[in-house]
Amino acid sequence: MKKSGAAILLAGAVHALLANAAPAAALAHGDPVRGEAVYARCLACHAFAYDRTGPRHCGLFGRRAGSEQGFAYSDAMRRSNLVWDARTLDRFLANPLKTVPGTAMGYAGIADRQERADLIAYLKRINDSAACRGQRRPPSAASSPLPPPASP
Ligand code: HEC
Repeated sequence: MKKSGAAILLAGAVHALLANAAPAAALAHGDPVRGEAVYARCLACHAFAYDRTGPRHCGLFGRRAGSEQGFAYSDAMRRSNLVWDARTLDRFLANPLKTVPGTAMGYAGIADRQERADLIAYLKRINDSAACRGQRRPPSAASSPLPPPASP
């Protein structure tokens, strides 16, 4: 038991070394719990379930940039040719105006790579949750933050 414990520790150390040696382009591992605190910076303009100043964040992963129906995007965003995943979000959130010149998102970006990774892990967790997956509903209710009225 002692021996295998040491082997596990060693494997962990080797893994840590390899992780550190990975190219800078590799995405940092994100912590969704810490990411929730980072998301507070987005709440001035965004919500998960409905559009505000910025488009809703439910359904973000796999969405073509600028394609949420009913939201008035900038031409820059609609023509950006991005599809949102961890990598494109990391690029965009690092520097929105540089990644999508002309974007209407008036936000300077998040310089810290770990904070971006945490935030993206949080975005992913909420997108995978029942709260977001239950969001696909008829377009007539698309802009309402409230659940549809219960049927009798
Ligand atoms: C000052 C308001 C504001 C803040 C703060 C803000 N956003 Fe935005 N966001 C916008 C607007 C407006 C758009 C639409 C941009 C466009 O059409 O060019 C947008 C677009 C986006 C998009 C593209 C979505 C799509 O459907 O294509 C993502 C992703 C996004 N924001 C993420 C974030 C995250 C994450 C944060 C927090 C770090 C954040 N935003 C902070 C206003 C904001």
